[in-house]
Amino acid sequence: MATRIGIVTVSDRASRGEYEDRGGPAIHDYLASILTCPYETVARVIPDERPLIEQALRDLCDAEGCCLVITTGGTGPALRDVTPEATEAVCQKMMPGFGELMRKVSLEKVPTAILSRQTAGICGQALIINLPGQPRAIQECLDAVFPAVPYCIDLLEGPYLTTDETKLKAFRPKK
Ligand code: MTE
Repeated sequence: MATRIGIVTVSDRASRGEYEDRGGPAIHDYLASILTCPYETVARVIPDERPLIEQALRDLCDAEGCCLVITTGGTGPALRDVTPEATEAVCQKMMPGFGELMRKVSLEKVPTAILSRQTAGICGQALIINLPGQPRAIQECLDAVFPAVPYCIDLLEGPYLTTDETKLKAFRPKK
């Protein structure tokens, strides 16, 4: 089966077409710049509605067979921000280190990084990672956590992801 990666933009306004989705394409471009293995992406743009986010995440992890799903948006304190809750609802295990590290590196760039409740977790055999909605947060956050992503997917018995080591070196502990 082809290696598939889900990209979910969670945004009321982007889902209504009121503005162009910039986060989803930024994740797409980031993956294209670092991954050297064959893969395809499956992208969704959905509103900040918890049932719809949960449905999209389950669908991408189960029916679509994604080994990795990256979300952008809906991680803040606003009333409609519910991406972390939806993520937690569909995951069997949470991976809190991802959120901790992403906030740490983001805080070096912007004091409002503490407003993101972004997290990560395991849904079936897929890793779900939340990113903030700000497009420039995407590279900042993924550069920090992606070195550990291929090994995490190995542990989930997923496909063997390889990266361009001049851009991002994946770390796999020697057995
Ligand atoms: N992290 C990074 N790296 N860069 C940013 O610009 N913006 C912050 C924070 N994390 C930001 C960031 C802000 S202003 C908010 S409100 C929260 O992410 C939540 O954003 P979201 O609700 O769009 O997910």
